[in-house]
Amino acid sequence: MQMNLQLVSLLVACLLSTVYSEGSVEYCYNLPACNPSTWPTLAPHHCNGTRQSPINIVTADVKPDKNLTAFSFKGFNDNSTIISIQNIGKSVKIHLDETKMSVSGGGLQSQYNSSQFHIHWGNGSSINGSEHTVDGRQYAMELHIVNIRTDVTPDVAANDSTAYAVLGFFIEATNSSGTPESWKKLTSFLSEIPNKGDSLDIMHELTVDSLLEGVDRTKYYRYLGSLTTPSCDEIVVWTVFKDPIKVSKDLIDLFSNKMHINATADPFIINNYRPAQALNGRVVTSQPTSVSGSEPSSASTLHHTLSISMALLYSVLFWCL
Ligand SMILES: *[C@@H]1O[C@H](CO)[C@@H](O)[C@H](O)[C@H]1NC(C)=O
Ligand SMILES: *[C@@H]1O[C@H](CO)[C@@H](O)[C@H](O)[C@H]1NC(C)=O
Ligand SMILES: *[C@@H]1O[C@H](CO)[C@@H](O)[C@H](O)[C@H]1NC(C)=O
Ligand SMILES: *[C@@H]1O[C@H](CO)[C@@H](O)[C@H](O)[C@H]1NC(C)=O
Ligand SMILES: *[C@@H]1O[C@H](CO)[C@@H](O)[C@H](O)[C@H]1NC(C)=O
Ligand SMILES: *[C@@H]1O[C@H](CO)[C@@H](O)[C@H](O)[C@H]1NC(C)=O
Ligand SMILES: *[C@@H]1O[C@H](CO)[C@@H](O)[C@H](O)[C@H]1NC(C)=O
Ligand SMILES: *[C@@H]1O[C@H](CO)[C@@H](O)[C@H](O)[C@H]1NC(C)=O
Ligand SMILES: *[C@@H]1O[C@H](CO)[C@@H](O)[C@H](O)[C@H]1NC(C)=O
Ligand SMILES: [Zn+2]
Repeated sequence: MQMNLQLVSLLVACLLSTVYSEGSVEYCYNLPACNPSTWPTLAPHHCNGTRQSPINIVTADVKPDKNLTAFSFKGFNDNSTIISIQNIGKSVKIHLDETKMSVSGGGLQSQYNSSQFHIHWGNGSSINGSEHTVDGRQYAMELHIVNIRTDVTPDVAANDSTAYAVLGFFIEATNSSGTPESWKKLTSFLSEIPNKGDSLDIMHELTVDSLLEGVDRTKYYRYLGSLTTPSCDEIVVWTVFKDPIKVSKDLIDLFSNKMHINATADPFIINNYRPAQALNGRVVTSQPTSVSGSEPSSASTLHHTLSISMALLYSVLFWCL
């Protein structure tokens, strides 16, 4: 009788969890039954789509687009926009105050409020774990700032091809331990959130700008893609910055040995990246490679000749790089 009751309550719990998990598929990175290779069958809508992310960026195929101007970043230099840091079992998520932080410009059609950022990594600094790759090169980690168009409501987001604008930053490993200071600070919180669901209030501790130190934010790749976790909704305008953020190896190592998938008896969160997806004819664009301060002059034939040979030189350079 006792046994039967336990069985019944197990069954009920099972059914309830099935009902409530509808729409949020239980995916993983570490098990053959739910790792990224299973996502197209686990969540065919939309992980089996045709504009999936991440991708490998082939620099020789990148097309120039003069509309990819500078961004306007709001709240990135304000230490009250970072609210908390949380172990979400799949990654570490930093919650942002979307009423104070936003991004616009940069060829985006509208303003996008910043909701969170999270990170993808490999296994320590020796196994790279970025999601996007450039000419096949994978970086140590990748940071994603997730921004949602100001007029988007949750019910239409799933069907809106530009609902999200995600800013992707590569992270490259360096040898100078404990640097930079901002990342030393950020990683110091990881040991306090060992279990899934653990969260820590970190307001006033650091700014997003300080974490993006060293990146020229006017140089980036642009393409249309998807969320990189199920249900892989094809709603993202992607920006991938060319310059990496430089973080020391000892700090990168902390991401793979402080946070567990669930409880402390479970494995650490490692290799939480999705591999590159098919391009399916999509075009990646970037800023035109311009010659600063050399306005073509029409004053003389000499100038014309110079301009033409400069243009030739630069187009040759463009195709070689
Ligand atoms: C995914 O899409 C491809 C091509 O459209 C198709 O051949 C394949 O059967 C689909 N897989 C699933 C699991 O739906
Ligand atoms: C650049 O913006 C203009 C005006 O919005 C638009 O007509 C044009 O198609 C855009 N160019 C590209 C390459 O997207
Ligand atoms: C976006 O931010 C603005 C303030 O800049 C705020 O009024 C608006 O409610 C925010 N939208 C969402 C969806 O959070
Ligand atoms: C990750 O790295 C740790 C430390 O180097 C090692 O013990 C572990 O076996 C690695 N895990 C995987 C899945 O490669
Ligand atoms: C991993 O990153 C290192 C350092 O950035 C780089 O030299 C190496 O080529 C990368 N490995 C792969 C497989 O991309
Ligand atoms: C999504 O958009 C497509 C085409 O624009 C439309 O046919 C479909 O009904 C929409 N679905 C939802 C759930 O709004
Ligand atoms: C970093 O350290 C590694 C191993 O100790 C060494 O091979 C590499 O040359 C160093 N890199 C730099 C830029 O000093
Ligand atoms: C956060 O910003 C405020 C206002 O600029 C400043 O007074 C404070 O010192 C900053 N806190 C830290 C930890 O940097
Ligand atoms: C996760 O950990 C909690 C707390 O220890 C436990 O109750 C739960 O069963 C675990 N979930 C899984 C899927 O292992
Ligand atoms: Zn991501």
